[in-house]
Amino acid sequence: MVEKVGEYTQTTGVVAKVQNIQVAKEMANIVKTTLGPKGMDKMLIDQQGKIIITNDGFTILDEMDITHPAARMIAEISKTQEAEIGDGTTTAVMLAGRLLENAESLINKRVHPTIICKGYSNAAEEANRIIKELSTSEVSNDILKNIAMTSMTGKAAEGSRDLLADLVVSAVNKIKEDSIEQGRIKIQKVTGSTIDKSELVEGVVLEQIISHESMPRKIENPRIALLDIGLEIKNPEMEIISNISTPDQLEAFRSAELDSIKRMVEKVLATDANVVLTQKGFDDLALHQLAKVGVIAIKRINKYDMDQLARATGGRVVSSIDELKEEDLGKAGVIREVKNKESSLVYIEKCADPKAVTILVHSSTEHIVDEVARALTDGIGDVIAAYNDKAVVPGGGAVEMWLSNKLKAYAMTLNGREQLAVEKFAEALEFIPETLAENAGMDSIDVITEIKQKQESGPVGLNLFNGKVEDTFKAGIIEPSKIKTQAINSATEVAVMVLRIDDILASKNAPQN
Ligand SMILES: Nc1ncnc2c1ncn2[C@@H]1O[C@H](COP(=O)(O)OP(=O)(O)OP(=O)(O)O)[C@@H](O)[C@H]1O
Ligand SMILES: [Mg+2]
Repeated sequence: MVEKVGEYTQTTGVVAKVQNIQVAKEMANIVKTTLGPKGMDKMLIDQQGKIIITNDGFTILDEMDITHPAARMIAEISKTQEAEIGDGTTTAVMLAGRLLENAESLINKRVHPTIICKGYSNAAEEANRIIKELSTSEVSNDILKNIAMTSMTGKAAEGSRDLLADLVVSAVNKIKEDSIEQGRIKIQKVTGSTIDKSELVEGVVLEQIISHESMPRKIENPRIALLDIGLEIKNPEMEIISNISTPDQLEAFRSAELDSIKRMVEKVLATDANVVLTQKGFDDLALHQLAKVGVIAIKRINKYDMDQLARATGGRVVSSIDELKEEDLGKAGVIREVKNKESSLVYIEKCADPKAVTILVHSSTEHIVDEVARALTDGIGDVIAAYNDKAVVPGGGAVEMWLSNKLKAYAMTLNGREQLAVEKFAEALEFIPETLAENAGMDSIDVITEIKQKQESGPVGLNLFNGKVEDTFKAGIIEPSKIKTQAINSATEVAVMVLRIDDILASKNAPQN
């Protein structure tokens, strides 16, 4: 029921739950048509009229103006999934929607939400265990490549899947740490060329210009100072106003300032650096002096790029000029600026042992390059997750169907109504293969039945390259186990959260929808 309570509107009990569940179902329905290689794209138009064409679940929900609180909770799942891996966002939202839809049917049969929550949490835990058991720990380069290819199937990058997948695998092999942090492979977009020109750069590419006209445009084997302070005086106007009253004082002040800048430049040069990169700025005098001795300087580099630079070049970002020593300097094979009509890029490349690299994605238009970059983000996220966790599983709905079957057997071991909840959880997982089939124009009931029959001896899924139900792992349709565990865990978490709500208290200022 809906009532006014002082400053709040109160929606209680079953009405609140039904409303929230309805919203979750709608969200799942919005994204489900994009699932899988045969999924469709969405065209999104923002308030400024900017158009985004995408297949990415997170992007769709992130761009939508979502106001309903339950809808925002669902959108949050896709955000977490995006942050953790970058892929599987559609799957996560769909699972949450179906878990809640199935819960509704139990509530209608008078099963208490607390029991449903308990059943769902247990089922999720059991699902994690089964996935672990099912996972293969061999992650050869071939498998990593298949993972990248699987995640890019059906996305804008499809035509160049092979090349892009090779770039991702090479990138991981270049960094080659025990555990690679997400984000260490930077994607730099470039418009005006074609995807097949995309390349791996063993270092960092900055969307920047060299800060002074008369500086060199290229230096081989540069010695690079990385600063998070500028070679400038902060807020000179403020200081002048507060301290200076006569022209003499002004001149003395400026000359003291110039001395101090000169000293800073001398200290940097004393380390033998011939490239200075800073997160802040340069005084004109500093630029002039650096240019005079053939040093390259670039200002206003963002923090992410600076971290990447430190990892790629082996240098250290220094926050006081007095601290800067020769051993803090980063090294690379070359630094060079490449300018054309569309853009200016600075390459700091051919680093000897880069712990951060860049994939340059070329494409003809902004819409395409954006969507290719989104697909590539998924590919990179998946490959890094598989590489770090050493755990991969078959795709094409194989894991979901395998889990569904095992969870139904697990449900039989439980007593009372919790059994019903675990069964409903198991059924919810079928939503994934069902939709993969539907989006490809196949009969989903036939496909599900065939998978059930064939998975007696091991997991099988739907191979959408040939439309057959078979061992998808062998067919190279492979995903990191983490996509599945993360999607299941966050979908369960949000479903449980929504089921526990039995009052919605909306402030009178809350958005209406
Ligand atoms: N060739 C294929 N045949 C069958 N299924 C495939 C194939 N390639 C990928 N899939 C399946 O497609 C699903 C992934 O689809 P999609 O990438 O559209 O959604 P998502 O990963 O959940 O979300 P998003 O990529 O939008 O974050 C997975 O279940 C995967 O196993
Ligand atoms: Mg995906």
